[in-house]
Amino acid sequence: MSLSAGEIKLVKDSWAPVYANKKESGIALFVRLFSENPGFQSQFRYLDGVSGLAAIEKTPALADHGVKVMDTVNSWVGSLGDAPALVKQLTALGTSHIALKVTPANFDAMGPVLLWTLQEKAGGAFTPAAKDAWAKGWDLMKSHIVKALQG
Ligand code: HEM
Repeated sequence: MSLSAGEIKLVKDSWAPVYANKKESGIALFVRLFSENPGFQSQFRYLDGVSGLAAIEKTPALADHGVKVMDTVNSWVGSLGDAPALVKQLTALGTSHIALKVTPANFDAMGPVLLWTLQEKAGGAFTPAAKDAWAKGWDLMKSHIVKALQG
């Protein structure tokens, strides 16, 4: 499964405004992840003792982590036309998350959250066609991540 040139353009064009505000987008992504999946919070050590979404949103370590995630996704988006480079990066991410005890179910939950972030932050660029391209792109990314995560 790979994306067509047209689908890659849709993904890149809708990602650009999200990444342009990467700190704000990264925070929004994680707040959404925890609001939709409250049980995930305990997996993040930097949120030990932090209670409630308003406090989570203001945690500096969460903003730092959000930017790292945004930078990583940005690199994947930039590699969509280069399958070997993309698979290498996705495999590395899956492998690095084994020690963090992240599960395939965690990545299943990330898909809708990522699409929600695009819906909120990409403005008019997140057209129905862009949404379809992202859904396909995320499935592709997740399949390689989960494969690595499962060893
Ligand atoms: C788009 C998908 C994701 C990306 C791009 C991503 C990226 C990253 C990056 C770059 C780091 C910093 C350390 C490293 O390089 O390994 C990290 C750490 C971490 N990630 Fe992810 N991640 C993703 C999904 C998830 C999911 C779904 C979970 C669990 C719900 C998760 C949990 C964690 C945890 C617990 C850490 C350690 C945080 C800390 O204590 O600093 N990640 N992630």
